[in-house]
Amino acid sequence: MASNRNLLVLPGDGIGPEVMNEVRKIIAWMGSKRAVGFDIQEDVVGGAALDRHGVPLADATMKTALEADAVLFGSVGGPKWDNVEFDKKPERGLLRLRKEMDLFANLRPAKVFDALIDASSLKPEIVKGLDIMIIRELTSGVYFGEPRGRHTNARGEVEAFDTQRYTASEIRRVCAVAFELARKRKNKVMSSEKANVMHTGVLWREEATRLHKEKYSDVKLEHMYADALAMQLLRSPGQFDVIVTDNLFGDILSDEASMLTGSLGMLPSASLGAPDATGRRKALYEPIHGSAPDIAGKGLANPLAETLSYAMMLRYSFDLGNEADLVEKAVENVLAAGYRTADLLGGGKHDGVKKVGTQEMGDAIVKELDRLA
Ligand code: IPM
Ligand code: MN
Repeated sequence: MASNRNLLVLPGDGIGPEVMNEVRKIIAWMGSKRAVGFDIQEDVVGGAALDRHGVPLADATMKTALEADAVLFGSVGGPKWDNVEFDKKPERGLLRLRKEMDLFANLRPAKVFDALIDASSLKPEIVKGLDIMIIRELTSGVYFGEPRGRHTNARGEVEAFDTQRYTASEIRRVCAVAFELARKRKNKVMSSEKANVMHTGVLWREEATRLHKEKYSDVKLEHMYADALAMQLLRSPGQFDVIVTDNLFGDILSDEASMLTGSLGMLPSASLGAPDATGRRKALYEPIHGSAPDIAGKGLANPLAETLSYAMMLRYSFDLGNEADLVEKAVENVLAAGYRTADLLGGGKHDGVKKVGTQEMGDAIVKELDRLA
């Protein structure tokens, strides 16, 4: 039976395939228990693609991704490919997907589950109830600006350079996503750059302000330098609702925000393009964590970030909000019941905790879905 939901699954490297295996169980559950089916294609990316095709993303895979309704991504990279030339690094596979699919808006929610409050390195009263959405610009800035490279300069010294570059429309379209999302949340946007030292920062602030005035003056807009924001995220994260920022600052600040929630192993993300004539956006869903080569293949990885990425896909690409809620509820309940992968054991109290591996965590989620449904 054709489902009209074309999904490309790219597990990638390191813990990517392991955590994806657990999501497959949930996909199967959704198919049999909720009649939510997908037409799934699967392919290699990153180091796995490099080994098979000699490139971190084959053209055929790129084409499938462009035709899919959504891409579910694991993680890429690892020490095995440390010495490959720059343009073939596993990470280039992911960057090519983002660029060619034009996935300019990266939604990175940082939400604290009550059960994990003790896993955070911050005091419980600072992180309780925390729910922040970082919107990271994903297809421009220093990740893609030209010129970039390295050469030997006139004095005979090696020099390397990258270019931070933004156009007004690139800033406006990502800020628009932030304002729209804020309207469905606490109606507050914090725009972040370094307008005190960077031309791109000055333009960012001008465009955010102009767009706000033109179309979104009902939303509260504030600005904060990215360094100050890094500090405020630790001092009093509860002041933030939606944060919008550029590609590099967003990369760094979202890793920081993730630790407020207890572990990088918990956070999903959605990368979205512009809506087409039918309202459909190209989209890729991936955990914020990387390939964690140190624990890969050991059955220790936390599958919850990939699980929650799948839930975001249900919500944003397929309008299956109830099913997304169900998956998120199952995660919440399993954590409340004390299930913890190793990454979630940090610091705090360990009473009533069940230490589990990747597969046991996946099984616990499926069992909880059965109970909830
Ligand atoms: C992320 C990752 C990527 C990035 C890498 C793997 C290219 O750190 O998604 O945050 O820097 O954007
Ligand atoms: Mn990152």
